[in-house]
Amino acid sequence: MKTAVVYFSLEGNTKYAAEKIAKRLQADLIELSPNKDYPTGSVSKFVWGGKSAVLAEQPRLLPYEFNKDLYDLIILGTPIWSGTFTPPLRTFLMEQDLSGKKIALFACHSGGGSSRSFPKMQELLEHSEIVETLALFDPKAKPSQDTENLIEEFCKKLQ
Ligand SMILES: Cc1cc2nc3c(=O)[nH]c(=O)nc-3n(C[C@H](O)[C@H](O)[C@H](O)COP(=O)(O)O)c2cc1C
Repeated sequence: MKTAVVYFSLEGNTKYAAEKIAKRLQADLIELSPNKDYPTGSVSKFVWGGKSAVLAEQPRLLPYEFNKDLYDLIILGTPIWSGTFTPPLRTFLMEQDLSGKKIALFACHSGGGSSRSFPKMQELLEHSEIVETLALFDPKAKPSQDTENLIEEFCKKLQ
């Protein structure tokens, strides 16, 4: 079974999890990068990123290589911004028609949880089959055995 992990990460938590999952499942790793970077300053990131997520913006992405036909399973990873998934992933979902594909979702948050974001992603994936979801609490900034166990369980179910 061929798997892709497609993700966006501003500060490395989602990247950390994406890399772990890709290594564990021997999956291709595809990082999404907006054409124009989001600020990373402590206040400005919340202002600009939060606004962009609330407005459901679709920022232009730098070119990426992805051919959905190559994959049996596509895993999508995103941080949570203002209770929802991030704009770069929204752009990806609008650019790619993943109808009929098997999809797993994971989201990284800092305590607010990610349960509201999965239904929102599913709205854009209504013709795909969502097989698993995983919520992770800042896996890189706040490492824990719980997080490692959750990642391992998620991978086991997807194997
Ligand atoms: C603009 C912005 C908005 C955020 N909004 C939320 C939120 O609503 N709920 C939450 O739990 N965490 C929120 N966070 C925290 C991130 O989701 C969390 O730290 C995540 O692990 C970051 O992933 P990354 O390091 O891959 O960027 C927000 C972070 C940013 C930058």
